[in-house]
Amino acid sequence: MANRGGFSSKLGFIMAAAGSAVGLGNIWGFPYEVGQGGGAAFVVMYLIFCFLLCFPVMVTEIAIGRKSQKNAVGAFNYLGFKKWNIVGKMGILCGVLILSFYNVIAGWAFGYIFEMASSNFGIADHFGDYVLNIFRVGLYGLVFMAVTAYVVSKGVSGGIEKAAKLLMPTLLFLIVSLVLYSFTLENSMAGVKFYLIPDFSLMTGSVIYNAMGQAFFSLSLGMGALITYGSYVSKNDNIITSAAFITLADVGIALIAGLMIFPLIGYMTEGTMSEVGRGPALIFVTLPQIFGSIGGSWGAAVGTIFFVLLCFAALTSTVSLLEVPVSYVVDELNVRRKRAVWLVAGLIYLIGIPSLLGNGYSEFFSHFVTYIGADSATDFLSFMNHVANDTLLPLGGCLIVFFAAHVWKKENLDEELAQGAPNYKGSFVQKYLNFAVSYLAPIVLGTVFVLTVLSTFFGINLI
Ligand code: TRP
Repeated sequence: MANRGGFSSKLGFIMAAAGSAVGLGNIWGFPYEVGQGGGAAFVVMYLIFCFLLCFPVMVTEIAIGRKSQKNAVGAFNYLGFKKWNIVGKMGILCGVLILSFYNVIAGWAFGYIFEMASSNFGIADHFGDYVLNIFRVGLYGLVFMAVTAYVVSKGVSGGIEKAAKLLMPTLLFLIVSLVLYSFTLENSMAGVKFYLIPDFSLMTGSVIYNAMGQAFFSLSLGMGALITYGSYVSKNDNIITSAAFITLADVGIALIAGLMIFPLIGYMTEGTMSEVGRGPALIFVTLPQIFGSIGGSWGAAVGTIFFVLLCFAALTSTVSLLEVPVSYVVDELNVRRKRAVWLVAGLIYLIGIPSLLGNGYSEFFSHFVTYIGADSATDFLSFMNHVANDTLLPLGGCLIVFFAAHVWKKENLDEELAQGAPNYKGSFVQKYLNFAVSYLAPIVLGTVFVLTVLSTFFGINLI
């Protein structure tokens, strides 16, 4: 078989996997979830989920990948459990669906770079019209997909790793600069307080639940993205410490993104932290308004930098989403990487078109389905999001950990984890991971899956 390539170093892998994790989920999703649900109370829950629940899942995915040196489907075949490759197939489907709409949003963000650079802050009040401009936003999406495909076509070390090593440090630099700037604004401290001082009376069932979903999505778990990246990791690398770095980087960037955004909201609301711009409108509506109120060339500079940063973060994530189906096509269908990349990317772009049209342009896709028990219809993009992120990811995660602990067996998982990690055997980490992978994670993820399906699609809220 042809050489599949691999990461050139442990650092290269960590950067690429952290790049996958850090994305729109951190810089857009995290702050808006914090704003909507519970402020610092949400943050606390999110941290707990990341370390106690998601970290074990991450370690498991990487270990399955490295052991088999295969894509998300091939990995199950290689380990001798062909029936289970349905989990990998589901993951690939899920990656295709997520990328199809994620790319639409990334395209919007890409277009905002030009709006900000030309000081068109009024776009904030016309976001609805902006997304109706189908040919323009469609072109932005096409460019974004093409750049993603270009990086992936260059291979693992020459494309994915190289891009991550350049983009991730730049991202960190830009985001820290914006944090420092936002701290100089009036009333910034009101935002910091809202963000960091927990009010546990705000801790409702839905806060806990959203925090779990956010943690899972943000760490790129549940669909074999890290099985795929893990398949390119050297046997000498320490999976445990790598996963710890990746988790810390992802959590760290999300926390810093909050430190950038909440002071801005404090400034905008003159310290009242009223309802302004909580929710999904945050980055496309509220932030441009804030940049506009900063005014002049500073406003334009800060706005432009913000959207460049957002696109960088999104790019390393779209790259990881595309690599999952591509590595499957390359390994299993024996197609050359370059050809596989452009074919798969083109197909996913097409699948994304309804998500593009469903924001008011096409009546049909804007009111695509009405769930049982719902008052109003759901648009296509949100529907994709509910199917892929809210449903398939927890289900996939549950099945992956269950598979590793009870089918492949935890002794084999342990064996793989011990490779490159001399102190692993007998450690506390080993004991905790065994417990989490065997019981905690499958039970929690399985429960979340059932509750989500009932609540989202059937309007039955058990909690
Ligand atoms: N983690 C990314 C974000 O926060 C999105 C992402 C990339 C992802 N690859 C993934 C999510 C794989 C789930 C699975 O934006």
